[in-house]
Amino acid sequence: MDTLLTPRNYRPRANLLQGKTLLVTGAGDGIGKAAALSYAAYGATVLLLGRTGSKLEAVYDQIEAGGGAKPAIIEMDLASAGEESYANLADGLGNEFERLDGILHNASILGDRTPIQSANYATWQEVMQVNVNAPFILTRALLPLLQLSPSASIIFTSSGVGRVGRAYWGAYAVSKFATEGFMQVLADELENTSHIRVNSINPKGTNTAMRRLAYPAENPTDNPSPDDIMPAYLFLMGEDSAGMTGKAFDAR
Ligand SMILES: NC(=O)c1ccc[n+]([C@@H]2O[C@H](COP(=O)([O-])OP(=O)(O)OC[C@H]3O[C@@H](n4cnc5c(N)ncnc54)[C@H](OP(=O)(O)O)[C@@H]3O)[C@@H](O)[C@H]2O)c1
Repeated sequence: MDTLLTPRNYRPRANLLQGKTLLVTGAGDGIGKAAALSYAAYGATVLLLGRTGSKLEAVYDQIEAGGGAKPAIIEMDLASAGEESYANLADGLGNEFERLDGILHNASILGDRTPIQSANYATWQEVMQVNVNAPFILTRALLPLLQLSPSASIIFTSSGVGRVGRAYWGAYAVSKFATEGFMQVLADELENTSHIRVNSINPKGTNTAMRRLAYPAENPTDNPSPDDIMPAYLFLMGEDSAGMTGKAFDAR
């Protein structure tokens, strides 16, 4: 796998994402929230997908207060949404927007960190549903809208344990390996037939609720905040990464 570091000192221009319509999953908290706010600040219309309406509304209000383009809220639980919900979502977005210019697949759950021998099957399935199956079905539903963009970007979110396996990280680690595999398959498929680039990003240790859950003994502020890693997320969504596809990036 080709792991590249995003330029550390990437400085996006102010109108980097002007005119783009972008969907962010898990937009209500953590890295997804920071990405949604950041994409809006650089000019994009952001579609905020997540499972907790009140959190999405808070992000919506923050974007409006900052003078950003009017966002949209898509309240959806990726653990339970069926195939039809995705088809309805695609229809609704198709009626409202001319095209889609990018998706940041960010929402994930950690599941249990236990030895494989004692891993709970229902939890395993839920992790796979949210982290792998939902990005697949969402991508499939929205590909026709992405094809209408002159230059679209799909970003999958990986993890260090999605590149090198680690004991007790079970379903989460396996789901992130699947994420990298999905990214490569889709990138290869689309490379010569579309203007859609497909890459993955590993944010690395970042101070969010998930990180605090995974490492309760750690001092949270020893890690960068979600805002600190946004240059890499902007780089991959904006035109400075045009032509790059099938690559696995680190955010720092
Ligand atoms: N933070 C790190 O150190 C780190 C390191 C490596 C990789 N990552 C990856 O980075 C991404 C973002 O992680 P984070 O640290 O920002 O996590 P986080 O703070 O836990 O945020 C996860 C987001 O996903 C949403 N979500 C979870 N389950 C969902 C569901 N069933 N349906 C819809 N939305 C759902 C959450 O919604 P609610 O807020 O409503 O629960 C939340 O907004 C993940 O893919 C994670 O695996 C993070």
